[in-house]
Amino acid sequence: MISILNLSDVDSTNSYISRNVASLNSNVVVTTDCQTAGRGQRGNSWEAEPYKNLTFSILLRPQNFPANRQFAISQAVAISVVNAVKELCNVDLKIKWPNDIYFKDKKLCGILIEHAVIGTELMHTIAGIGLNVNQQQFFSDAPNPVSLLQITGKVTDRNSLLLKIANEIVNSIDNIINTKNYDAVHQQFMKHLWRNDMLLHKFCDVETGKIFSGYVGEIEPTGHLNVYEPTTLSTDYFDRDNCFRHRYAFKEVEWILD
Ligand code: BTN
Repeated sequence: MISILNLSDVDSTNSYISRNVASLNSNVVVTTDCQTAGRGQRGNSWEAEPYKNLTFSILLRPQNFPANRQFAISQAVAISVVNAVKELCNVDLKIKWPNDIYFKDKKLCGILIEHAVIGTELMHTIAGIGLNVNQQQFFSDAPNPVSLLQITGKVTDRNSLLLKIANEIVNSIDNIINTKNYDAVHQQFMKHLWRNDMLLHKFCDVETGKIFSGYVGEIEPTGHLNVYEPTTLSTDYFDRDNCFRHRYAFKEVEWILD
């Protein structure tokens, strides 16, 4: 069961939970209409026009959850957003590895997951979600934002969407804990994966700075992404036997948007 803590304003809902973790209940959803210093991935900031969007975080305490399976939580959170938006707004979304939510080639939602680990198990997870809902225009330097309003032309009830996403997240994590069926969540993730289409896409290898074209391959339980770069022997379709395989952890590769 979730509970809601609505703050009139806060620097960052993820940071708020992190500062107060000892006194907060499991499955609390900390939400605000005015997030003043939202944090994104890779040390970026997250900007959201006040009263127009969803900016919230959930404190999860998955019992006996192996730390080396933490990517399953990331997958479950992303799938929950995709499912909730489909059910409430009838919009089809994709998950851009590792866990951005895209509509076509535009970013609708960012997810910031922060785990605390003790030994080999998770102690807690803070799953922060920023979803562009009723914002009409974007002024920040984020490269390709989009909102539900821009997609559907309709105003979405933010509270209904918040409750749907939060409940989906908690239910899907409970389901993983109870069944230990990591594969089911992974199959769902792969089904919704952005650019998982056997076509060539451009990437930048962060270490070397090299830009290359490759096919999206399998994603491992650890979250590593395999990208297959055609060699001179390759055909013009995805033939992994004649490709060079790159294996990337988070932040080791960047997608190049056309
Ligand atoms: C990204 O860079 O794509 C992740 C953005 C995550 C933003 C959300 S908004 C609610 C929560 N609190 C934060 O400070 N960040 C996350």
